[in-house]
Amino acid sequence: MKHLIDPMDLSVEEINELLDLADDIIADKDRYANVCRGKKLATLFFEPSTRTRLSFEAAMMELGGNVLGFSSSDSSSSAKGESVADTVKVVSCYADIIAMRHPKEGAPLLASLKSDSPIINAGDGGHNHPTQTLTDLLTIRREKGRLEDITIGFCGDLKFGRTVHSLIKALSRYEKIRFVMISPQELEIPEYLREEIFDKKGLSYEQVQTIDEVIEKLDVLYMTRVQRERFFNEADYIRLKDTYILDVQKLCNAKKDLSILHPLPRVNEIAVEVDDDERACYFKQALNGKYVRMALIMKMLGLEAGR
Ligand code: NCD
Repeated sequence: MKHLIDPMDLSVEEINELLDLADDIIADKDRYANVCRGKKLATLFFEPSTRTRLSFEAAMMELGGNVLGFSSSDSSSSAKGESVADTVKVVSCYADIIAMRHPKEGAPLLASLKSDSPIINAGDGGHNHPTQTLTDLLTIRREKGRLEDITIGFCGDLKFGRTVHSLIKALSRYEKIRFVMISPQELEIPEYLREEIFDKKGLSYEQVQTIDEVIEKLDVLYMTRVQRERFFNEADYIRLKDTYILDVQKLCNAKKDLSILHPLPRVNEIAVEVDDDERACYFKQALNGKYVRMALIMKMLGLEAGR
């Protein structure tokens, strides 16, 4: 049995296979309608979520399977003091596959050591979010037609943003990716990522503080929210929260085929007026998340579509 805790748990070949399967599901949804009949997915969300939990549940339903779970720790026995290990041991008696989100880094990894069913990390603190990465890769590949030779700008909270960390890791294995980090000094990528990904692999990245100085060369702009819940003090959050606001004016010098991604939820970092620009891909991206999770559930359960 295999779990998905870190994007690096998947080889590039496995990622590409998942994206191919997601493309196929998008092209021929009916063929996949009963693939998971009789199977159950549990969503254990100890932290808030809209897209990730609901897209997992919608994905399982569209595969003909069933879902169970909870959407906050208050409504589970963790409020009574139950450990993650015990919760997951029990839930794995009820469900064939488990998607888990937790505010503590490493909680899904610990769960995977205790679970009798495969565990999917649906976000652990400021650490990883591998299924958002699959969503992002599918979106980039569908928009750009490739996953190599791309200049991608990551903008906003690169310190605490787990979607950024996971996507950087995954993209570091594709050829000719030019990374541009756009953040205030306090929110630069964590040291461990610099050492383990960039230094170790001999890759480089450009670090800047404004969108304006790099916008014209980007193929993809990955905007992120400042992660309020991970700050140690509110004053720092308030000072940094509106550092970047992408509006139509800022896009004047951008490429005509720029793809603007955002894992969502957005707070202020993309003006609503940008939604009407054809370069805005973030709502398409949210939809892609459902299809790639369908592909992932199928692969992890070892299921194939009927002919
Ligand atoms: C992200 C997350 O939870 O890390 N959201 C998501 O899963 N789509 C990004 C965020 O919360 O800012």
